[in-house]
Amino acid sequence: MNRAEKIAIFDSGIGGVTVLQEIMKVLPKENYIYYSDSKNNPYGEKTEKEIQQLCNNIVQYFKQRNCKIIVIACNTASAKAVQFLRKTYPEIPFIAIEPAYKMVHDTSYDKPTLVMATEGTIHSEKFNLLLKKYDNHKTFLLPCVGLADKIEQGREEEIKEYLQNILKPYQNKVENVVLGCTHYPLIQEEIKAVLGEVQFFNGAPNLAKHLKKVLEEKDLINEKGEGKVEFEDSQGIKGKEKRFFEILKGEKENENIKK
Ligand code: DGL
Repeated sequence: MNRAEKIAIFDSGIGGVTVLQEIMKVLPKENYIYYSDSKNNPYGEKTEKEIQQLCNNIVQYFKQRNCKIIVIACNTASAKAVQFLRKTYPEIPFIAIEPAYKMVHDTSYDKPTLVMATEGTIHSEKFNLLLKKYDNHKTFLLPCVGLADKIEQGREEEIKEYLQNILKPYQNKVENVVLGCTHYPLIQEEIKAVLGEVQFFNGAPNLAKHLKKVLEEKDLINEKGEGKVEFEDSQGIKGKEKRFFEILKGEKENENIKK
């Protein structure tokens, strides 16, 4: 591995762009390769075995592409597959996103908290260990079945209707919202439209800091790159690449609420 090699990052779709945005703020000179697994998304309701197999295929792809580290920008894939990947590829450093529940513990422990994530993440052993460790005993867990897919497809009206139904029981009941899926930071405004002023918790900024620290420790920081981002989609959908770069560059921030 050398410093100039790329940082690899993947998600079941384009949601991981919210993680890449945070990473590029702290590591603007690195070069990146982003893999969106559209062909197989959503991951949220897949079995552990299926997700491990899909992640394994992605790692195999990255292995051909000169990568020095792999960022799992999908909470579901992290929850179900990171242990398996670390065991299978001990030579590759993996950095994995997780719901920012510890951040609630550290900064807003006394407030009622809603954790929104996929069913896979909410029911995973990894998340339940985190919950047990930092439980504030005022936490509601909300598996948002199908929501990541609606965001991936950009179905604005359906997203609003879905959030109305699923979030209504929590109106005036929660003050913290953990965005436990990397697609959800794209719909913060729509969530606020139902819940009112809440404080959002997103794991991506801390992941970015951690990634930088790991690269520094391993002497893998690239100071001469150009911040180049390559995009690859398993289904090869052209429109997806365009949308990904628009969101990445902030041209379409919170695109779902504007229309
Ligand atoms: N962005 C993925 C996550 O963070 C979405 C999972 C899915 O495809 O259902 O969990």
